Amino acid sequence: MIEAQQENAARSLDMVLYDSIRPVEWRDGAVRLIDQRLLPARKEHVICRSVADVAEAIRNMTVRGAPAIGVAAAYGVVLAVRDRYAENPETWRQAVNADLELLAKARPTAVNLGWAVDRMRQQMERLEAEPVAPLLNEASAICQQDVDANRRMGELGAALIDADSAVLTHCNAGALATAGYGTALGVIRTAFQAGKIKHVYADETRPWLQGARLTAWELIEDRIPVSLIADGAATYAMAQGKVQWVIVGADRVAANGDVANKIGTYGLAVSARHHGLSFMVVAPTSTIDRSCPDGGSIPIENRAGEELLSFADARVAASGAQAWNPVFDVTPAALVDVLVTEMGVLKQPDAAKIAALFN
Ligand code: MRU
Repeated sequence: MIEAQQENAARSLDMVLYDSIRPVEWRDGAVRLIDQRLLPARKEHVICRSVADVAEAIRNMTVRGAPAIGVAAAYGVVLAVRDRYAENPETWRQAVNADLELLAKARPTAVNLGWAVDRMRQQMERLEAEPVAPLLNEASAICQQDVDANRRMGELGAALIDADSAVLTHCNAGALATAGYGTALGVIRTAFQAGKIKHVYADETRPWLQGARLTAWELIEDRIPVSLIADGAATYAMAQGKVQWVIVGADRVAANGDVANKIGTYGLAVSARHHGLSFMVVAPTSTIDRSCPDGGSIPIENRAGEELLSFADARVAASGAQAWNPVFDVTPAALVDVLVTEMGVLKQPDAAKIAALFN
């Protein structure tokens, strides 16, 4: 009895400290998103009541991070079907197709978006009676399975890290970027709890500052020591012996193991290899796109130049300067030391190992 109470207390402490953030939730018939554009200054929610609201929230970065986008899209499909079915229970399937196309195109690089919409579509095609309740179940399953995958990847990734390590991470691959717990930050959370990580260096991640705003916020909430560095300081931090691992998430992993992730990831992988450090990518199998043979076939999102030319809505770049703003890059598989998925760890991932993972 006392043991069970102690176990429950430990579990709820673990929830409070390491797993309390839920960026995407279904509440009262709508999708509730933490507005990630406002953090850390304000924690506010945006309520999406229609599929168009969800698509816009993905486009404008209210919700971001590949798995979180996938979960939001899954709930977006529920909203689309609910509304089309209410309009006309006979013809809703045709009407909903256009909604799903629009949703799937909201952002191009994170494959979890198309993956979640496809999974919901497959479920939809199997249904004959009232579709909303079973689709809501499917979306909730996608959400819960993502948290479970992150927990599992946390254990698998942390097992690879030696005691007293310091790590570098890029962008935000945390709870905010997923259904909860995080991919790269999931490994960092688990390894920190196990006493293996003593310090985290977070790249600020221009221009959206996901590192400065979101990763630093999550780690501070969990009392994990974090130092923010300018993106340009990462290679120097490696040269100074400050980190032993670079740990990142992914937006899409091609069939040969090439990895698309936040712009700057490729440079970190090159620098890590140069300095003899280990480079870990943490991504659930929903992020692996076996229909993309290699990184060259991954669509890379270019966002408005204004994101680079201005800061906090004030122009900072010299007037007349143009901007090129690709927001992801591709790291060749050869630079990845470990790919951690919920189905297992692939050292030096390649096409054969990825195919074997799915078989
Ligand atoms: O533009 P963003 O903020 O959506 O980019 C997010 C990333 O690049 C993350 O590293 C990636 O989605 C993995 S999140 C678990």
